[in-house]
Amino acid sequence: MPVFRPHCVLVTGGAGFIGSNYLHHMVRTYPDVRFITVDALTYAGNRANLAGVEERDNFRFIHADITSEDTMAQLFEAEPIDAVVHFAAESHVDRSIASARDFVHTNVEGTRVLLDAARRAWVAAPAGKRRFHHISTDEVFGALGPTGVFTEDSPYAPRSPYAASKAAADHLVRAWMTTHNLPAIITNTSNNYGPFQNPEKLIPLVISRALAKESVPVYGKGEQVRDWLFVKDHVEALERVLMYGQTGRTYLIGGDQEVRNIDLVEHLLDAVDVHLGRPHQSSRQFITFVTDRPGHDFRYALDSSRICDELGWTPRHSLEEGLKKTVSWYLDNTDWIAQAHRKLTPPQS
Ligand SMILES: NC(=O)c1ccc[n+]([C@@H]2O[C@H](COP(=O)([O-])OP(=O)(O)OC[C@H]3O[C@@H](n4cnc5c(N)ncnc54)[C@H](O)[C@@H]3O)[C@@H](O)[C@H]2O)c1
Repeated sequence: MPVFRPHCVLVTGGAGFIGSNYLHHMVRTYPDVRFITVDALTYAGNRANLAGVEERDNFRFIHADITSEDTMAQLFEAEPIDAVVHFAAESHVDRSIASARDFVHTNVEGTRVLLDAARRAWVAAPAGKRRFHHISTDEVFGALGPTGVFTEDSPYAPRSPYAASKAAADHLVRAWMTTHNLPAIITNTSNNYGPFQNPEKLIPLVISRALAKESVPVYGKGEQVRDWLFVKDHVEALERVLMYGQTGRTYLIGGDQEVRNIDLVEHLLDAVDVHLGRPHQSSRQFITFVTDRPGHDFRYALDSSRICDELGWTPRHSLEEGLKKTVSWYLDNTDWIAQAHRKLTPPQS
């Protein structure tokens, strides 16, 4: 039996990559639960990601900004929200290096606005009947050398403006738990990949560039190591955390699938060749090594044993299976790639 069963879930950032995958799963799996998503539809948000969900009776889309205090307060007054799953964020490290303004505004102030709206609405709620689930990243812990893993007790040491803004948001959530008794849970996750990811992110970027026979940029020598998690496995982990997790706790969610960037890029290009019937390894010619970005973290890896042991979750896709599904999805949805490209705005500086 779940320890928590919500009736009305506010999902922020539901038109983005992970939020839309979450809604596809949850709205269908729980037809008796209402899901409301608030999304500002920035360059990263795309309502087309919610096709098939929008038509459902238990779903409502609201075009709004989480940093609007009045709008969020009114939403909590108008709807019997008993859970928040908070994805909305500025999420691209390169953009945060060009300008951190929107990152601090949305990721820090937006989280503060939501925490206050939930706290005020839930002040008289019975114990155990409300839950604020904050979605965060492994990047708050900084970078690792060639060995070791981050645990729930690792110190925070963010190195990019994006990571610093997410770390600040995590600290706010913990402060609201302690100061205001807000029942909250934080999850920190490794790099996700899968359908509906914005084509400025590494995996869809490589696939779409290879498809268009354009250069595929790789930072430095591509030696950074990332741990990859298929988004559908992440969504199942988040479902378990919402329903079975303990408030006050942090869960780390990793894929346990570490790979160097250059190896990942070559694997993807080879998979594109297979899918499109191009000569073996011919798309590797598009790789272009570019100057490394400042403060580029060498490696991240997470110890997910708490969520595996306590909540019985394990990722179901190997990296190879997940990448195969992902390459097929993008190459079968080239209209989606074109539409997402049209929405891309240049980074601010
Ligand atoms: N993608 C990853 O690999 C990854 C890994 C770990 C954690 N995360 C975290 O997961 C969350 C979702 O990431 P994603 O990759 O889906 O991001 P994304 O950039 O694809 O989507 C973000 C969504 O938030 C919306 N949004 C942005 N600012 C908003 C605002 N002010 N008000 C309302 N909506 C707003 C955007 O329109 C978009 O739909 C983020 O909090 C991110 O930090 C992502």
